[in-house]
Amino acid sequence: MTSTRCDRSAAWSALQTAYAQKGQAFDLRQAFAQDAGRFAALSQSAPHVFADLSKNLIDDTTQQLLLELARQTGVAQHRDAMFAGERINSTEERAVMHWLLRTPPIDPAMPAQSVHRHMAETLHEVHRTLDAMLAFAEVVRADERITDIVNIGIGGSDLGPQMAVLALDAFVLPGKRFHFVSNVDGHELAGVLSKVKPESTLFLIASKTFTTIETMTNAESAKRWFLREGGTDIGRHFAALTTNVAAANDFGVKTTFGFWDWVGGRYSVWSAIGLPLAIAIGAAGFRQFLAGAHAMDEHFRSAPLERNLPVRLGLLDVWYRNFHGFTSRSIAPYHSALKRYPAYLQQLEMESNGKRVDANGEALPYDTAPVLWGEPGTNGQHAYFQMLHQGTDVVPVEFVAVKHPKHDLPGHHDLLLANALAQAQALMVGKSADAGPPQGGAAPPGGSDPHAMGERGGHVHAGGHKDFPGNRPSTFLLLDELSPASLGALIALQEHRVFVSGSVWGINSFDQWGVELGKVLARDVAARLAAGNVTGLDGSTAGLLARLRD
Ligand code: F6P
Repeated sequence: MTSTRCDRSAAWSALQTAYAQKGQAFDLRQAFAQDAGRFAALSQSAPHVFADLSKNLIDDTTQQLLLELARQTGVAQHRDAMFAGERINSTEERAVMHWLLRTPPIDPAMPAQSVHRHMAETLHEVHRTLDAMLAFAEVVRADERITDIVNIGIGGSDLGPQMAVLALDAFVLPGKRFHFVSNVDGHELAGVLSKVKPESTLFLIASKTFTTIETMTNAESAKRWFLREGGTDIGRHFAALTTNVAAANDFGVKTTFGFWDWVGGRYSVWSAIGLPLAIAIGAAGFRQFLAGAHAMDEHFRSAPLERNLPVRLGLLDVWYRNFHGFTSRSIAPYHSALKRYPAYLQQLEMESNGKRVDANGEALPYDTAPVLWGEPGTNGQHAYFQMLHQGTDVVPVEFVAVKHPKHDLPGHHDLLLANALAQAQALMVGKSADAGPPQGGAAPPGGSDPHAMGERGGHVHAGGHKDFPGNRPSTFLLLDELSPASLGALIALQEHRVFVSGSVWGINSFDQWGVELGKVLARDVAARLAAGNVTGLDGSTAGLLARLRD
């Protein structure tokens, strides 16, 4: 597919000019003061997600130019190529079709459906596999003798199901415990094994390739432990989730749920890799999870660019990374069950878009993926929000909050939501050390309040130490409730926004060659560590290796 590289497009130059003339000095407080309609203009609903983008450093000109950038770099054509099943993962010669995993079966009564005809057979296969996997999930749910499900997998074979099982804790079947072992560090597996019994445990060996050394090492150790502790029926107590069915058979697993090479690891929670989630929330819940994601797919493929939430978020990411030069984005989920959501997004964004060459392998002169990091609020507030408010770097923050909680403890949820709103407000409005507290989110008043900030006996006029510069951007995503459907939609939204920025940058968001070198060297170093062979190693690695063998 031919499209203009972003930095060679007219829109890019126009954005550079806009940034120099107005963007750099843009002030959110003035923008709100001048435009009573800013919130309405810069917020929108998408399936299951309401998004407020109004506290971002954008105006109408920037928005229009960013949309023009999307047009000139062919984002919509690239998106349509993905949904048409073209091999847009060019370095691996693969289609990118995780979205097909959440596409409903073709309804013969509705011929004009969004799935291309040539994919109809693949979609049937997807549903056959899904039905089989969900039937198995129901059998496990009904089997009271199985109390512990241990998922052994890493990267996308861990983060997706783990994040989702934790997030949907309120929907998890009582009486089943879920454990996730990813690290090759034996402490992790040993810790889980010390809590379970062979006769009541189901091990799920989750690996797209069934070759990942961490997962294979953990799986072999789990099997040894199972047999040593008196386990007899590997067929009943182990299942595999993989595209490499032959390797799973060699391992001795009888029950295998497969998927396809067109599902990237970090996009695989919708496939058989989602089995722990399906066991946790049931077949109906898993289908709702898929349906929520499908609703977001339909939004992404059909909403006009200017009202297309993944497009707007992805373009905002480009604006911040390439024009403002922001190097990271902080993820602030105001829901304790979303504790692995930042880690999940790290893989999604940084493994997808952490690239320094374009899709043709040509080195890029502009920046790509930011660093993503974060913790659930309110915990993050008492750890690193200091830096977000007063540090030297501007870090856009992406809040996620949920309107209706799943508990009935009085007072907590309102306080949680108030904190989320207040942090976003504080980042934007700031405060001068001499000024009174901001009222209703207005710009900090110029007048002084002699008591301000002095309650703890500090200097009232502490100058810069107590100044909050404000004008720090944030996005606020709001869900009505944290449910299988809304989580599905939220995750699909994030997948597509990563697609959009990757598409503007002209990179292949679907390969991950950068993880290979470390894997190869680890095998070499493991052999050297065993043999004490430092010949030809750099001085540091040799020195450390020798010390480890002392
Ligand atoms: O090392 C990176 C990676 O390939 C990820 O992309 C993937 O999610 C993870 O390893 C696990 O791979 P697998 O599912 O094949 O074990």
